Amino acid sequence: MEKPKVVLGVSGGIAAYKACELLRRLTESGHDVRVVPTESALHFVGAATWSALSGHPVSTEVWSDVHEVPHVRIGQQADLVVVAPATADMLAKAAHGLADDLLTNTLLTARCPVVFAPAMHTEMWEHPATQENVATLRRRGAVVIEPAVGRLTGVDTGKGRLPEPAEIFEICRRVLARGVTEPDLAGRHVVISAGGTREPLDPVRFLGNRSSGKQGYALARTAAARGARVTLIAANTALPDPAGVDVVPVGTAVQLREAVLKAASEADAVVMAAAVADFRPATYAAGKIKKKDDQEPEPIVLIRNPDILAEISTDRPRPGQVVVGFAAETDDVLANGRTKLERKGCDLLVVNEVGERKTFGSEENEAVVLGADGSETPVPYGPKEALAETVWDLVTRRLR
Ligand code: CTP
Repeated sequence: MEKPKVVLGVSGGIAAYKACELLRRLTESGHDVRVVPTESALHFVGAATWSALSGHPVSTEVWSDVHEVPHVRIGQQADLVVVAPATADMLAKAAHGLADDLLTNTLLTARCPVVFAPAMHTEMWEHPATQENVATLRRRGAVVIEPAVGRLTGVDTGKGRLPEPAEIFEICRRVLARGVTEPDLAGRHVVISAGGTREPLDPVRFLGNRSSGKQGYALARTAAARGARVTLIAANTALPDPAGVDVVPVGTAVQLREAVLKAASEADAVVMAAAVADFRPATYAAGKIKKKDDQEPEPIVLIRNPDILAEISTDRPRPGQVVVGFAAETDDVLANGRTKLERKGCDLLVVNEVGERKTFGSEENEAVVLGADGSETPVPYGPKEALAETVWDLVTRRLR
């Protein structure tokens, strides 16, 4: 089988060095990558590096190998174009259709999915000119990944960092797998909860659960690759931030509720993948609870936590919003799932059978997605991202 052809466009920002890592990941996972840097990108990383890592010649302008008509051919043949980092200047050129070098020509001739991973200073990112260019590119079907927040060049911090290359790679992989040039969640805002809540007993102890957050993170990555604006409410996870996703860390069920309700007020869909503790200790000891040799331990009194899924299903923070829940069942999976769906009032319920193979923290999952309309969508045992794609398929159908 022929390797998928990827064009890696690199524009002139300090984050160009991170594109070397993206290039390696793409080539090592079986992609044929052609690097097309801009002239200014070569101030940061030289042509020799791009050429050696990609195994292809590297040029910035349209005047090399003219007999091969590279300014047309490279774009036409690509299965995916990813520009990382994309500077403010590159976004402006792409939005306005300028074509003064090989990369901008390639962007005009490509008919495949295009991903931009912008990186620049916060002021440049927030400038209305850049924001309008980003909106134009998104409207035309490009996936423009939101920059990460963090340390920028120099001493300042803010929004504008290039997301981690491993996470840009994940977006590329998913966009390439879908192969569509119209991201179906573009213009949509989705809120996902992930991980497991922890309910503190004292400053060092808590009641928690084994949820790793991997299913919720897979939902966030796939939604971002389908063009959505994504808010991920992450309860006690130890996973890298997905590219383009706004991650809000929380601890307890009460904090999770607050964060979900805040984000859900302007969301098109809410997916509750987090394992939320149904109960919390009635009291919190401000100091560490000490054992006393001559006394039995005090029993732990529990009180109920709010049921966030039921609450947002009943009082939708935004009209027309799609609400999705998750449930783990051991017996009578479908019947119990159907009862739970009705009790909670959500539109879709992803029901997992909890068994030997299907443990917390694994990379795979198997489920049936029940719809309030009576539908049943089985998802065979496979990667969590396949289940995530099915969830978004069902959500987009309901949003239309
Ligand atoms: N959920 C919630 N708030 C809670 C508890 C759960 O929003 N206090 C959400 C979870 O995020 C998940 C779904 O509800 O989407 C799970 O419902 P739950 O009734 O807790 O089901 P199970 O975990 O399967 O447990 P049980 O059958 O014991 O009720």
